[in-house]
Amino acid sequence: MREFLSPEQLGMLRAMDIQVWRSRTPLAASLPDAEARVPGGPVEQTDWQTLEAAVSGCERCVLHTSRTQTVFGVGNRSADWMIIGEAPGADEDRRGEPFVGKAGQLLTEMLRAVGLAREDVYIANILKCRPPGNRDPQTEEVAACAGYLQRQVEMIAPKLILAVGRIAAQNLLQQNQPVGKLRGTIHAYGASGIPVVVTYHPAYLLRSPGQKRKAWADLCLARSVAGPS
Ligand code: URA
Repeated sequence: MREFLSPEQLGMLRAMDIQVWRSRTPLAASLPDAEARVPGGPVEQTDWQTLEAAVSGCERCVLHTSRTQTVFGVGNRSADWMIIGEAPGADEDRRGEPFVGKAGQLLTEMLRAVGLAREDVYIANILKCRPPGNRDPQTEEVAACAGYLQRQVEMIAPKLILAVGRIAAQNLLQQNQPVGKLRGTIHAYGASGIPVVVTYHPAYLLRSPGQKRKAWADLCLARSVAGPS
């Protein structure tokens, strides 16, 4: 496994009593559709253009029947930070871009608070299509989409993944604990070992502003892992 944290970072995190965890299985490898193929070949050999085209024409799960359009991901493809959320909502389905509604505006402000512009990071979701009525993604939908996100992570190779919300955190880390239990430690994504920090979903923070203090601590932890941008 590639080591993404320097000995200095590991020492500092240990001194702060922050545990570093590794997940047992990568997102796609644990899912039935990990061997996904797109027109250009196996999904894990795909370039950006082919991947984007494969996603926009994807009919691998039932969500293609109700979407307005797919929501591929947006931002800097050489980013140090990759932000991963759950799935497009109504605004994102309409505009084709992740996190553009009220929750997205809060996410943009949260990033700005740690010195990052939205354009500095790469933002994607576990699912590329909106689940009707914003219901939770189903296992087979996550499985159908997993190879696309895995390839995006591989190509970006970020220094840090910020998992926002329960669905993102649980699927990326193959865990079923709540965000309150997963936040505050540094996890590792799959075989690559890319550090993952978990925080609350901005939609939840809009409903529970008292938790913003914890989200700020999560962002500071993420910044300490990613280092200066
Ligand atoms: N919530 C998410 O998790 N992702 C989006 O893109 C929008 C809202």
